Amino acid sequence: MHKITLPKFSSLLLVIVLTVLFSLITANPAISGEKRELSLPPDSLAQWYKPQNKRQVWLHLMFRLGETSQAVALYSEKGDAASMARWATIFAENYRRIPKMVPEWAQQVDFAAVELLEKATAKKDISGVQKALKKIRQSCKSCHGEFKAISTAIYRSADFSKVKVKGENGIDLINYRTFMKSLHRDINNLKIARADLHPDEARHFAKQVSKKLSSLKDSCISCHKDKEPTQRILGDKTFNTMDRLIEVLKEPGKTKKSGRLMGELGYTVCGRCHSIHRNTVAIKRLLQ
Ligand code: HEC
Ligand code: HEC
Ligand code: HEC
Repeated sequence: MHKITLPKFSSLLLVIVLTVLFSLITANPAISGEKRELSLPPDSLAQWYKPQNKRQVWLHLMFRLGETSQAVALYSEKGDAASMARWATIFAENYRRIPKMVPEWAQQVDFAAVELLEKATAKKDISGVQKALKKIRQSCKSCHGEFKAISTAIYRSADFSKVKVKGENGIDLINYRTFMKSLHRDINNLKIARADLHPDEARHFAKQVSKKLSSLKDSCISCHKDKEPTQRILGDKTFNTMDRLIEVLKEPGKTKKSGRLMGELGYTVCGRCHSIHRNTVAIKRLLQ
């Protein structure tokens, strides 16, 4: 009999490799299913966004910080101390608004660095300003890493919770989620009838879907004052596709023609709108 014995060295290596692999697997939350903690912004941020505020005040402060800090950097590189100082003063004023607007975020603000910036600005000291700005920018980066994406999702994605769509009788107003479930049921009924060679039923459900899409279209106007976004998803082209589908469904069974039209519908209507609107609604719900 032939017996294999691993030399001491390679069994040690094997143990090391396995240990490293194991720790990689358990440390990776995506593999182990461990939860990652997300930091939510403080509630006081809400007062700087719609609907509590008329304008998106916080976002505009951020744009201002972006522009003014770029101006400071630009003039400091050009060696134009006077212009640099003019912008640095505006920048510092805006940066100091952060803890006044959201007191819970005071610890995110680098007060020492902004004081250094103000002192260097008063002396028109270019390299002092550059150094201070570099430090302040670390605070921008740190807060953004923790809170930016989440704040955008919570405060700036479209809010569908109060949007209503006309129900089947043309009178009742129902919420989006309930409406979507009924639209989905009709689509599935259409698919089943088409697969099982019931052309009359398939056409009935296709007409039902077409009617519902036209009620859905009316809901877009509550947010979109311009026609284009609605047209892209629920425009004449979509309703032509529906008419053609209702026509070709006269032929029983899973024909190539009806299959292509249904695929087009799924992709250009449901898929397109969901990638803009449904995903953000889902993320927002998770965060609240
Ligand atoms: C505004 C554009 C829009 C269009 C067009 C659209 N949807 Fe939706 N859909 C949404 C939104 C927004 C939600 C999330 C609603 C919620 O969870 O409150 C959603 C949710 C859903 C859901 C999940 C409902 C649940 O149980 O939570 C289904 C299923 C669905 N849609 C099916 C469809 C199908 C099928 C089509 C195409 C025939 C379609 N949708 C077209 C916006 C759209
Ligand atoms: C205390 C937290 C905090 C600090 C500090 C902070 N920001 Fe922000 N910033 C945010 C949040 C939250 C958003 C997301 C706002 C939104 O999407 O409505 C944001 C967004 C921005 C945006 C918009 C970017 C985009 O994706 O459109 C710019 C520009 C910006 N910040 C610049 C800065 C600069 C420059 C600094 C530092 C001088 C800074 N911010 C410091 C929290 C912070
Ligand atoms: C609750 C308000 C709201 C409703 C209702 C709504 N949208 Fe939107 N939509 C927005 C906002 C806000 C944006 C900008 C992107 C974002 O923040 O999600 C947007 C972006 C879009 C875009 C991408 C931008 C563009 O101009 O092409 C399309 C397409 C779109 N919506 C289609 C629709 C359609 C179709 C409907 C109705 C079935 C609809 N939306 C209903 C608020 C809404």
